[in-house]
Amino acid sequence: MLKGKVVVLGVTGGIAAYKTADLASRLVKQHAEVHVIMTKNATEFITPLTFESLTGTKCIVDTFDRNFQWDIQHISLAKKADAFMVAPATANVIAKMAHGLADDMLTTTILAAKCPKIIAPAMNTAMFENPITQNNLEILRQYGFTVIEPEAGILACRDTGKGRLPSTELLLSSILQAIAFEKDMAGLRVLVTAGPTQEALDPVRYITNLSSGKMGCAVAEAAVLRGAAVTLVSGPMTAEAPYGLQEHLSVRTAQEMYAAVIDRFAEQDITVKAAAVADYRPVHCADEKIKKSDTDLSVSFTRNPDILLELGKRKRADQLLCGFAMETENLLQNAAEKLKKKNADLLVANSLRQAGAGFQGDTNVITLMTQTETTELPLLTKKEAAHRILDKLLEMRAKQETASI
Ligand code: CTP
Repeated sequence: MLKGKVVVLGVTGGIAAYKTADLASRLVKQHAEVHVIMTKNATEFITPLTFESLTGTKCIVDTFDRNFQWDIQHISLAKKADAFMVAPATANVIAKMAHGLADDMLTTTILAAKCPKIIAPAMNTAMFENPITQNNLEILRQYGFTVIEPEAGILACRDTGKGRLPSTELLLSSILQAIAFEKDMAGLRVLVTAGPTQEALDPVRYITNLSSGKMGCAVAEAAVLRGAAVTLVSGPMTAEAPYGLQEHLSVRTAQEMYAAVIDRFAEQDITVKAAAVADYRPVHCADEKIKKSDTDLSVSFTRNPDILLELGKRKRADQLLCGFAMETENLLQNAAEKLKKKNADLLVANSLRQAGAGFQGDTNVITLMTQTETTELPLLTKKEAAHRILDKLLEMRAKQETASI
């Protein structure tokens, strides 16, 4: 995702500095050209050699290092950088950056850089919460820096509180959000549903399905990376929700999902219903745990609301609605019927019978179906499939806009 992109990582003298090695490695795996600049203090925690081995580029510490290629490094790196992340950022370096001090290679280069700048503070809680640090962070935000909030937990100083460097996954995701994709969904509001629902039988038992939520999360993540403001409504899924969501609502039952989605539908430009919603729920949820007896147990079920069907009724001409159809037989025929019946603009159909498609895996084989065309796609990762679904929706939106002129 970062082919052809240059990422500069600034590493300052905090105990979390070792975690940035993992980030550097992940960036290289995404095909980024990675350059690391360390403060002198950072080299007390981790060696430049670690970063050089991971990135294949020289790790820069000293502003006046003459043992390297002839160009003014801080200016050339600042010009080359597509993104600049300082992680971990100590209170000291944050203060210097906020006030334009440039007394080492890191602060000098960042002052000259015009690309997106992201900083991830990590320090003792009292230092972080000190109004001086908070003011400095606010100054940086006003200058257009993105500040990633530290996480709460047990710190190296044995205190418990806010100050831990967030996960590599989150740091990587914020770099991807800044530079990985063209922001062709900027200004669009997208609602995605993901995962299964659970329908309770009694306080300890429920009916559900095998949905992992991976496909819905992939769509939500792709939309975030392309600049959309994304709301995710998810059932109890095993997949992890992506970073950068505008809103994430966790629900349990189909009725809860219905309420959350209906409430937010009017303000959306695009809604993608990837959730595997239970069509039925037990008529009664027992107040106490159902005890076994010697006879068979029968449970009566009643219909849940069909969320997609309801959205199809409420849909305005300027909105796009995308549903999913998972089938075990008659894929295209069933999908076409669902598209029509639920008044969706796009239906993503997949067959559970096809190798590489379905609930738990990381790949899918999908067919995109609109009122006028059917496109079968090859085996793709769910992340790739998500982008193809969004490509189609954007293409339909462009036609919608042309038609309304
Ligand atoms: N869906 C929904 N609300 C429901 C059931 C389904 O919004 N109560 C949505 C799903 O999120 C999906 C689409 O409808 O986008 C199709 O779901 P699917 O389970 O394949 O189809 P159903 O309409 O439930 O039909 P059937 O189970 O008979 O195949």
